[in-house]
Amino acid sequence: MSFAPLPKVFLEYLEDCNQPSARILDLGCGDGDFFTPLLPLKAQLISLDRVKPQVGTSPILVADAKHPPFRPRSMDLIVAANLFRHILFGEMKADFLENWCGLLRPGGALFLFEDEPTVFPPAARNYGQVQDFLLRLLPGERGPLLARADFEGLIGRGTVGSEWVLGLGRNDLKPDLEAIQSLLSSNGVAPGSEVSQLLRALDQDGLAYGDFWWACWRADSA
Ligand SMILES: C[S@@+](CC[C@H](N)C(=O)[O-])C[C@H]1O[C@@H](n2cnc3c(N)ncnc32)[C@H](O)[C@@H]1O
Repeated sequence: MSFAPLPKVFLEYLEDCNQPSARILDLGCGDGDFFTPLLPLKAQLISLDRVKPQVGTSPILVADAKHPPFRPRSMDLIVAANLFRHILFGEMKADFLENWCGLLRPGGALFLFEDEPTVFPPAARNYGQVQDFLLRLLPGERGPLLARADFEGLIGRGTVGSEWVLGLGRNDLKPDLEAIQSLLSSNGVAPGSEVSQLLRALDQDGLAYGDFWWACWRADSA
C-alpha cells in the first residue's frame, strides 16, 4: 500500500463495488503497491502503467494514463495514486481528467491520492528533498510534489470542473530508509555535496511520508 490509513470514504466506496460485475482501474499502478494490501477483491482490477514494473506482481496493461484505452462508462472506480503530479507537470493543465471522468459508469468514482508537500516535520521535509533530488535525476519522468492548495487552484480556475470532494490524511507507512540511503550513495558521496547533506539529514531526522491529500469526483447516478 502506498497510503495508509486510507480515507473512510474511499474504503466504503471500495466495499460497495467489491462484487464480480464491478471494474476497478488503477492508473499508474507501478508495482501494484496501492491495491496489493487490499486484495483479494471480488471486483475486476485492471492495472495500467506506461512501463512494466521490475518488481511486484501487478498484471499490467502498458499504455499512457492520459488516454486510457477503455470504453466510456466502463469503470466503477478509478484510482490514480501518486500519478497526477507526474503527468500534470510540464503542462499545468489537466484535460486528461476529463478522459478519466468519462470512463466512469453512472455513480462511479475517481480518486486521486498525492503526497502533500507543505507540512514540514523534519523527517517529512527530508522526503520532500529526496523527491526533489529524484526529480533532477530523472528529468521529464517525474513531477514535483503538488500541494492540495495547487490542485484546488486548478479546480478554482475551472480547469478540471468543480464537483470535487477533497481531504487530507497522515501517511503512517514507513518509507524504506535503507533503500533510499543506498540509492543516494550508489555513485559515491563527495564531501559537502547535496547527496552528502541529504544523507546527513536522513541520519539525523529520519524519513517520513508526512501528509497526503486525496480528491474524489463522482459521476452522476443514472
Ligand atoms: C510514484 S509511482 C506510483 C505507483 C503506485 N500508484 C503507488 O501508489 O505505489 C508513479 C507511476 O506512474 C507511472 N506513470 C507516470 N506517467 C505515466 C503515464 N503517462 N502513463 C502511465 N503511467 C505513468 C510511472 O511509471 C510509475 O509507475
